[in-house]
Amino acid sequence: MLVSATEMLKKAKAGHYAVGQFNINNLEWTKAILLTAKENRSPVILGVSEGAGKYMGGYDVVVGMVNGLLKDLDIDVPVALHLDHGTFEGCYKCIEAGFSSIMFDGSHYPIDENIAKTTELVKVAHGKGMSIEAEVGSIGGEEDGVVGMGECADPNECKQIADLGVDFLAAGIGNIHGKYPANWKGLSFETLDAVQQKTGELPLVLHGGTGIPADMIKKAITLGVAKINVNTECQLAFAEATRKYVEAGKDLEGKGFDPRKLLAPGFEAIKATVKEKMELFGSVGRA
Ligand code: 13P
Repeated sequence: MLVSATEMLKKAKAGHYAVGQFNINNLEWTKAILLTAKENRSPVILGVSEGAGKYMGGYDVVVGMVNGLLKDLDIDVPVALHLDHGTFEGCYKCIEAGFSSIMFDGSHYPIDENIAKTTELVKVAHGKGMSIEAEVGSIGGEEDGVVGMGECADPNECKQIADLGVDFLAAGIGNIHGKYPANWKGLSFETLDAVQQKTGELPLVLHGGTGIPADMIKKAITLGVAKINVNTECQLAFAEATRKYVEAGKDLEGKGFDPRKLLAPGFEAIKATVKEKMELFGSVGRA
């Protein structure tokens, strides 16, 4: 059964580790992430962007697929199904469809409007036993059409949003979706520290987990990050493994074209990436 992400993230913050949010795109992604979580006794959050939800056919398809896998694969670790960077309307659709968690990304609105919309969604989500993430200060780069300038969050605004009762908060600290450019300045730990001082026990979320060096991840966890989002890294691992298979001509040998064979190296590559992240984030053995 899906659970909200509130409990798992409270435990993570208190235990000084982080739970990974891994974004899903299809059956292979979802199955690979769920099996890796089960094998490593780790809680996990499945992230769905609005674009990925549309690609998979809609939110009902996503909920049906995830619930089916939880049952048929006997996934006995805590799993949350979370809308990533949701619009106001998208949040309502996922609440209806049976997600267990939503993110409302109101970071591009003036703060008063972000507050008003977040307030309404907190009430609705909590009424359904769901968790809700909000965002202050935008995450740089582009993800599925959501573009951010990458400005650092204002700690006072973070406090205002935290006080609305959100369950966890994404604060921009110089993080970027996708690959980091060579001239990236790194995470702003001063901002993170200031945000944590203002928001106390609230679990903080680090977006753009792809390509952040291990020492920065560990330091971010010591400063209150309890959820780390990873998307691009699984896509790169899947693409590389698939390319190797095809370039080696394996799809032309015997029945190597069978989708179950063709997609297997990519599936294994996602599993390896997720396991590596769970070990780095410290969530292994916490379920
Ligand atoms: P990356 O694609 O950089 O890993 O970011 C994922 C993310 O933050 C999802 O919201």
